[in-house]
Amino acid sequence: MQTAPTPDPFCRRDLSGARVLVTGASRGIGRAISTAFARHSTHLYILARSLDALEVTKGLCLSLGAQSVTIIQADLGDTDPTRTQAMLDMVVSTIGDTLDIMVHNAGRGTRESAADITPAAFDAVHAVNLRAPQILTAALLPTFLSTQERHGRGSIVFVGSVLGVHGRARSALYCSTKHGLEGYVDSLWQELQPTGSHVSIIRPSYVATDMTSGNQAGIRPEDMIHPDDIASAVLFVSTFSNRGCPRIVQVQCQNVEGS
Ligand SMILES: NC(=O)c1ccc[n+]([C@@H]2O[C@H](COP(=O)([O-])OP(=O)(O)OC[C@H]3O[C@@H](n4cnc5c(N)ncnc54)[C@H](OP(=O)(O)O)[C@@H]3O)[C@@H](O)[C@H]2O)c1
Repeated sequence: MQTAPTPDPFCRRDLSGARVLVTGASRGIGRAISTAFARHSTHLYILARSLDALEVTKGLCLSLGAQSVTIIQADLGDTDPTRTQAMLDMVVSTIGDTLDIMVHNAGRGTRESAADITPAAFDAVHAVNLRAPQILTAALLPTFLSTQERHGRGSIVFVGSVLGVHGRARSALYCSTKHGLEGYVDSLWQELQPTGSHVSIIRPSYVATDMTSGNQAGIRPEDMIHPDDIASAVLFVSTFSNRGCPRIVQVQCQNVEGS
């Protein structure tokens, strides 16, 4: 069957003017994702705990072309029910009636052995890595879906990990959160597919950020993936045509065997 040629055969989604939420935007991968979206003339909502570091991200984004940058200071690790509801209400009201893209990137790494997982550590890591993406998505879905209907585009992107599909010694707690995220994201995709929304997960291996400084595998930062490489994967899935959804992008280190 012959198909008619189109002016842009890739039919990429235009990001200009899109409203984008990035969690964990105060440093590392989240800052790189924010600055990558800034270059596309977007409106950004950047979320984390550290106000000073968020101000730095904001300045970078504005200098690179973001139309606006709104800081959302929030602790995604706080599981107190009243404060959680207040935080969700604050995020929803700050964003208002339009949201084209959510990037759930905030995360915590841990390195204890399985025998050392305490109830407190379990709760703290699951709160940020697994609970926060789900409750934030649920709170923002009405806004996101009504935007998708009006704009004909919408992406929810999760930063998972290769440790969401493999295990690693002394990473059991972290792995359990990222494995859980994989199941959640696949289910969300199946729920949202009829709406035309993209739901994607990026699975990085070692990325040179604070999280991997002093890594026990002894991998040098210069041999790791750069945060900008993960930002480029997020842009790739967010701009992909409406004809398909890149569901999973796994990014491994080119120069490190077995990672
Ligand atoms: N680096 C890697 O090798 C690697 C590999 C695979 C996957 N990942 C994933 O990539 C994502 C980003 O990691 P990264 O390497 O950029 O780590 P990072 O440099 O340690 O940054 C983590 C980000 O998450 C935010 N965050 C942590 N706890 C939070 C909380 N309670 N509330 C709100 N924000 C919180 C931090 O902001 P504040 O501290 O200011 O709150 C920071 O912006 C994570 O989901 C991580 O699991 C990283």
